[in-house]
Amino acid sequence: MQVIRTVEAMRAWSLQSKRSGRRVGFVPTMGCLHEGHLSLVQLARRTADLVVVSIFVNPTQFLPGEDFEKYPRDPERDEALCRGAGVDVLFYPETGAMYAGDHSVFVDEQRLSSGLCGASRPGHFRGVLTVVAKLFNCVQPDVAVFGQKDVQQARLISRMVRDLDFPVEMVVGPIVREPDGLAMSSRNQYLAPAERQDALCLRRALDRVEDLFAGGEREVERLLAAMMEVFRAIPSARVDYAEIVDDVTLEPLQKLDRRCLVVLAVWVGKTRLLDNTLLTP
Ligand code: PAF
Repeated sequence: MQVIRTVEAMRAWSLQSKRSGRRVGFVPTMGCLHEGHLSLVQLARRTADLVVVSIFVNPTQFLPGEDFEKYPRDPERDEALCRGAGVDVLFYPETGAMYAGDHSVFVDEQRLSSGLCGASRPGHFRGVLTVVAKLFNCVQPDVAVFGQKDVQQARLISRMVRDLDFPVEMVVGPIVREPDGLAMSSRNQYLAPAERQDALCLRRALDRVEDLFAGGEREVERLLAAMMEVFRAIPSARVDYAEIVDDVTLEPLQKLDRRCLVVLAVWVGKTRLLDNTLLTP
């Protein structure tokens, strides 16, 4: 595995690989890798000849007062995991390599980003889209793989690819869970042992909705109320949002007559956790 630290070297490697007719798969990450990331690497491997993983804790997607400084970083472990997963290139740029001191151009989406995490974290997706656009320009992948856990992010990046004509195929990999059902996330490490237990309320709330839906319940209000009941039983849990939205437009639904997503962002103590599930009538 090669470790590449500069944009120029990354671009040169990609051009060379593509000239030799090889398809480049790409998994962008912020490091602190876990099984969820490694499953995305496996997916990339299935559709590409070479796999690039980037690790870059992107400052522009953190709001003032968020956890940019304390975001978990473990470069040695990440590098070993990438080697073990058969990654071909680890792209590990310094912040200075990615953003000029007077950087002033951003990618801003106007519709899908207005609700859910976009409402709670204004400016977050502008940072995400900007860095992903930059990473696409550095890596020039044929296929890029993102996780379903960050479903709004995945939908927004697909929209950016479509609207800005990036020649990149998008693949979204399923949520990978701990054996007890908690969706894997680098931020799970922030949870104290009691909070780790409480965090299972997200999966429980989704299970509740899935069961009711399977039993024929189609009233959005009743499904949401059932989830809120689960959260009310956990004092450390504070719901940021719990919504049922259209799978494509991410707009809240009144009637469950098409594929929809149940999306959750819940604070457990000081950690904000995301989860979601798809319901198909
Ligand atoms: O999902 C993430 O880890 C990040 O938002 C991403 C896509 C790597 C952009 O910084």
